[in-house]
Amino acid sequence: MDTSPSPQNPNEPKLRDHVYDGIQEYDQKLPNWWLFTLYITIVWFVVHWLCYYQLGIGSSDTEVVDKVVAEMNAARDKQMEAITDEQLWAMSRDPQVVEAGKATYNTPGMCVTCHGSDLTGMGVDPMTKAPIKLPGLPLHDQEWKHGGKPTEIFKIVRKGSPDITKGMAAWELVLGMKRVSEVVAFVLSHHKEGEPITKAPDAPAPAAPAAAK
Ligand code: HEC
Repeated sequence: MDTSPSPQNPNEPKLRDHVYDGIQEYDQKLPNWWLFTLYITIVWFVVHWLCYYQLGIGSSDTEVVDKVVAEMNAARDKQMEAITDEQLWAMSRDPQVVEAGKATYNTPGMCVTCHGSDLTGMGVDPMTKAPIKLPGLPLHDQEWKHGGKPTEIFKIVRKGSPDITKGMAAWELVLGMKRVSEVVAFVLSHHKEGEPITKAPDAPAPAAPAAAK
C-alpha cells in the first residue's frame, strides 16, 4: 500500500495558493480535541448565561463569601448575647480591647460627644472655654441609672435607653456587637470589679416580675 503523500488523497492537507515572503500555509482542519473544547465552551456559556444571569440560580464568589461572613458574624453575635459579667471584666483588662473601645468612644459624633472625653459627662464650651454639662450621664462614677453591672451597661449601649427621648441610641445597630463590647470594656476599664454601685435617684423602677406568686 502506497503511503507517500499524494495531492489526490482527500485526507492530505492542501497547500494554499498564496505566498507571503516566501511562506506558504496549509489549509489544515482544526484538531478535533480543539474543536471539542470550543463547543464545550459555547454550551457552557449558554448554560451559565441562562442559569446565572437569567434565572438567578447559583451565587458568585463574592456572594458566597458575604454569606459565610454574615453567618460568622451572626454566630459571634449569638455568643455575645450570652456574654457574662466576668467576660466583660476580663475584656476591660485586655489593653488591645480597651484601646479599640477607646477609639470607638472618641470618634467624633459618638460617645465622647455626650459623655465627654473623660467620661464625666462634662465638656468645654468651644467659645467661652467654660465647663458645660453634656447631655450624657457620667460614666466614670459609681452611680448608674440603668444598672452598673457589666451586662447591664452592655445592654444599655446595645439597645439604647428605654426612654428614647433621652437621646441614648441603640448603638448595636451602628457599631455591631463586637465594637459595642469593646466600648463597654473601655468604660469598665475606668472601674473596679466589686466596687459599690449606687442607683441614680431617677433610675426607672425595675420591671415587674413576670409571674407574681
Ligand atoms: C446623643 C448623646 C449620646 C451619645 C452620642 C451617647 N450617649 Fe450614652 N447616654 C446619653 C444619655 C442622654 C443617657 C441617659 C439616658 C437616660 O436617661 O435614660 C445615656 C446613658 C448611657 C449609659 C447608661 C448610664 C447609666 O447611668 O446607667 C451608658 C453606659 C452610655 N450612655 C454609654 C454610651 C456609649 C458607650 C456611647 C457610645 C457608643 C454613648 N453612650 C453615646 C446620651 C448619649
